[in-house]
Amino acid sequence: MSPLSVSRPGRIRAAIDVPPDKSISHRAFIFNAIADGRATIEHPLDSQDVRSTATCLAALGVGIDWPAGRATATVTGRGMHGLFESEDVLDCGNSGTTMRLLTGLLSAHPLLSVLTGDASLKARPMARVISPLRKMGAHIHARRGDTLAPIVIKGGDLAGIAYDSPVASAQVKSALLLAGLYADGDTSVSEPGRSRDHSERMLSAMGAPLVVEGATARVSPTSRLEPLSLRVPGDISSAAPWLVLAVCHSDAEILVRGVNTNSTRTGLLDILRAMGADFELLEERAAGGEPVADLLVRSSRLNGTVVSGELVPRAIDELPLVALLGCFAEGETMVRDAAELRAKESDRIEALVHILGRMGARVTARPDGFTIHGPVPGLRGARVDAIGDHRMGMLAAIAGTLAEGETRIDNDAVGVSYPSFFQDLARACDGAAALP
Ligand code: S3P
Repeated sequence: MSPLSVSRPGRIRAAIDVPPDKSISHRAFIFNAIADGRATIEHPLDSQDVRSTATCLAALGVGIDWPAGRATATVTGRGMHGLFESEDVLDCGNSGTTMRLLTGLLSAHPLLSVLTGDASLKARPMARVISPLRKMGAHIHARRGDTLAPIVIKGGDLAGIAYDSPVASAQVKSALLLAGLYADGDTSVSEPGRSRDHSERMLSAMGAPLVVEGATARVSPTSRLEPLSLRVPGDISSAAPWLVLAVCHSDAEILVRGVNTNSTRTGLLDILRAMGADFELLEERAAGGEPVADLLVRSSRLNGTVVSGELVPRAIDELPLVALLGCFAEGETMVRDAAELRAKESDRIEALVHILGRMGARVTARPDGFTIHGPVPGLRGARVDAIGDHRMGMLAAIAGTLAEGETRIDNDAVGVSYPSFFQDLARACDGAAALP
């Protein structure tokens, strides 16, 4: 495929309707798959990752009605014990959420299941779900000493555990909570920092006996979940490129509409605030059991900041964009405690050092993050490789939109989470997405 090309507009005035939340879309399909009855999901994210989830669930016998191009999907749940054994391997594509949540769910089903994915997913750590699920009694095997997909599961009876997770990961937490719904006794998951809590909100709304105390979520077994119909709010991780574009560009004002502002996801807003960015939350409201707002963001003078600790899981998918913010900020910007960045769709620390380095920024990799001294005298366009990682594709595109000259991007993969990203970028830059 030929590389995509972007360059800098002199002025940006745009209003963007951000795509639906990926995490909530996955969960809406997976949780409703085991509910008693039919749910309507309005505005699910139609991207490669969520399609992977829907296809896997259909292979397990779940009634999914979601024709291409339709903004509403229906899921006819099979109840908690009604999934069929899939006739084939379940292909999770590029999606860690699909693989890890289904591993938890299928550990509790007396079926033989084999989960695989693309080259990136087959290189991502799976012991983090396999080993606690085995402690619960699941029979799971995987490649490389039970650490890498493909994963083979022969599900069955489980016992609850109190699990102290070494990583703050909503995927691990959600896999164990799903398994815990079927276990004998309670299952609790404690995290070193609070990860996104969409599973807790949605499962509680479906009637699951679930309590949250600080960074611990505990679920008791149940025999029934109510279907949950919802309208999926906009994804703050897909809003993030626009927020960063607006604050770094010298003449920009962007209104990003319908963004989920759940506090377990708004680390980037806290980082922007600490850097002195000019933005406001407008029309605060609720959708799909989550807080939502429009964000109005303008060109800003930024100062460097340190991102660490509890902020990291609350901004995990946005941290590569913080490196770009650092290029436009006065002084040092440092991200630490974020070794998880190396376990995403790519090693995002190495990938961002490559992309921003090609454009003239000097970013120093750390084992658990990166440091950058800003402001960088002038980013210049370059040919960069996003190595099939959607977040790196969007980072490269926004960096290219802020750079002097043309940027060409190979392997952007934006279809994984934001299929209309380049159309929205073109509309924002040529004025076609102008503010009302
Ligand atoms: C997600 C959780 C995060 C995030 C990923 C989506 C989820 O991963 O990076 O994009 O939907 O639960 P981890 O749970 O591995 O931190």
